[in-house]
Amino acid sequence: MEELPITITIFSTTRFLRLCLLISGLMLLYTTTFLVNANGVASSIGINYGQIANNLPSPQNVIPLLKSIGATRVKLYDADPRVLRAFANTGVQFVVGLGNEYLSKMSTNPEAALAWVKSNVQPYLPATNITSITVGNEVLTFNDTSLSGCLFPAMQNVHTALTNLGLDKQVTVTTAHSLAILDTSYPPSSGSFRKDLRGCITQILDFHTKTGSPLLINAYPFFAYKGNPKQVSLDYVLFQSTATTNKNNNNNNNAGGSAAAGILDPVSNLRYDNMLFAQIDAVYVAMAALGFKKSPSVQISETGWPSKGDEDEIGASPENASKYNSNLLKLVMKNKGTPMRPNTQLDVYVFALFNENMKPGPTSERNYGLFKPDGTPAYQLTGISSNTSSDDDHNKTTGGGASSSKTNTTTGSSPPDTSSTGYLSISSATVVSWSSLFCAFQLWIFYRLSLLRVNVFTKLRITHTQSLFPLQNQSTCCIAFAIAPTLLHSHPY
Ligand SMILES: *[C@@H]1O[C@H](CO)[C@@H](O)[C@H](O)[C@H]1NC(C)=O
Ligand SMILES: *[C@@H]1O[C@H](CO)[C@@H](O)[C@H](O)[C@H]1NC(C)=O
Ligand SMILES: *[C@@H]1O[C@H](CO)[C@@H](O)[C@H](O)[C@H]1NC(C)=O
Ligand SMILES: *[C@@H]1O[C@H](CO)[C@@H](O)[C@H](O)[C@H]1NC(C)=O
Ligand SMILES: *[C@@H]1O[C@H](CO)[C@@H](O)[C@H](O)[C@H]1NC(C)=O
Ligand SMILES: *[C@@H]1O[C@H](CO)[C@@H](O)[C@H](O)[C@H]1NC(C)=O
Ligand SMILES: *[C@@H]1O[C@H](CO)[C@@H](O)[C@H](O)[C@H]1NC(C)=O
Repeated sequence: MEELPITITIFSTTRFLRLCLLISGLMLLYTTTFLVNANGVASSIGINYGQIANNLPSPQNVIPLLKSIGATRVKLYDADPRVLRAFANTGVQFVVGLGNEYLSKMSTNPEAALAWVKSNVQPYLPATNITSITVGNEVLTFNDTSLSGCLFPAMQNVHTALTNLGLDKQVTVTTAHSLAILDTSYPPSSGSFRKDLRGCITQILDFHTKTGSPLLINAYPFFAYKGNPKQVSLDYVLFQSTATTNKNNNNNNNAGGSAAAGILDPVSNLRYDNMLFAQIDAVYVAMAALGFKKSPSVQISETGWPSKGDEDEIGASPENASKYNSNLLKLVMKNKGTPMRPNTQLDVYVFALFNENMKPGPTSERNYGLFKPDGTPAYQLTGISSNTSSDDDHNKTTGGGASSSKTNTTTGSSPPDTSSTGYLSISSATVVSWSSLFCAFQLWIFYRLSLLRVNVFTKLRITHTQSLFPLQNQSTCCIAFAIAPTLLHSHPY
């Protein structure tokens, strides 16, 4: 668009200015509300806070660690009162867990379910924002039919207890499944649930649909890579495939052998540039096959990558873990949906907050943490500030320091995506500078509009937001747009 000099008379200028002010205000409102509501709520980072260890910091000292990575949602495997108390009034949202060992009792005894909710959930509300209860973890894939049979009735009883206490609107009931409830996940269009589980899963999906709770899946592309490192491309599992375009349409159906190109699903014709998205879409297809086409939504209750493993655990390294989790968090921040559900936000809980020294199994099991027990980063996450802001008197995150200064980012003019470091920091210290950026953004719109010198109303009606900014150089705008939803959802701790 051509820029014309300002040749407006004084009289119309003042009216025009007022109009501009109004419009820029509306634009700001639009930017924030539209971006946040487009997909329901803006995505935020969730993390699994497992505690199978004897050397973890106190819950109080965990708060700044969460803050340093911008996590606003936490998933527990129990309902640890120390944690729930420590996080009162922090704005952090909690998923609490009811362990598998309780299922049998909960399934037959509604009173037990009520008692559990009364002592493990109700006392912490509303100061601690418990939003969900996971009843059991990976129950169906233990292949223990008596345990599996308890799952659905236990979920029902816990939900009934919440209803009786008037808490069912704020606390949902769900359970976390292993991805192994699928018997086929590749290509995504062929996704299907294990035959022997379909009856049970149908009941559970029906429950989710009726109560508005999500289906939770624990998904680890790491396992797929470890099991088959020759066939599966490391770039594909680490979110590093480059081809999101369909320019190479030759369908060589080789499970990701052509690393950079990602994978083309021959049936849906959708291209996947990472395995996690393919796994999620396989779940959506499996659900649709049982008649659940619109709901429930799918959330990733666990995903992660170990920074250390045994000899035979190929791919486990700090560098690879950093790539997996950094790239994952960037996707989450971008509110990017899967190819099949591009407009559905990705809700992810990273596994895990800490390396847990008492977990049994291969070495990798004890090395999924973003943090070591002493509070230092297990490795550096690129693009996520791991430096707690100076108003904390904690000296936890001394490791590496994510690309030095994060507080003067307002001067950076490149869009968040292009910079691999320092693209986002949600610490309270930076919020102030972001709001000054907002100010600048508003002024800038105001300035641009005044240059337009056309009928702004017509313009507004007929154009998409993009064309309201005729500048080639839209970096400022990009940053503001990208940051708006984050800002609104970065709670003060
Ligand atoms: C708890 O989190 C939910 C989900 O974001 C939110 O709607 C609700 O307002 C929060 N409640 C409190 C008390 O902060
Ligand atoms: C459970 O059963 C499925 C199929 O019946 C099998 O593939 C899987 O390995 C079994 N899992 C365990 C943990 O035994
Ligand atoms: C990532 O894992 C692969 C497979 O084990 C390994 O060859 C590679 O060196 C690792 N990359 C880094 C940077 O550690
Ligand atoms: C934090 O600082 C104190 C004193 O400055 C020191 O004793 C302590 O070891 C530090 N902790 C960590 C985790 O660096
Ligand atoms: C963390 O930030 C503070 C204040 O912004 C700074 O003084 C300190 O050097 C930083 N630490 C690291 C490791 O970058
Ligand atoms: C950030 O900006 C402030 C004020 O403009 C300045 O005093 C400070 O030195 C800057 N910090 C860095 C790391 O550039
Ligand atoms: C946008 O403006 C900045 C600062 O003026 C400049 O450094 C950058 O190269 C420009 N980008 C484009 C794409 O013109």
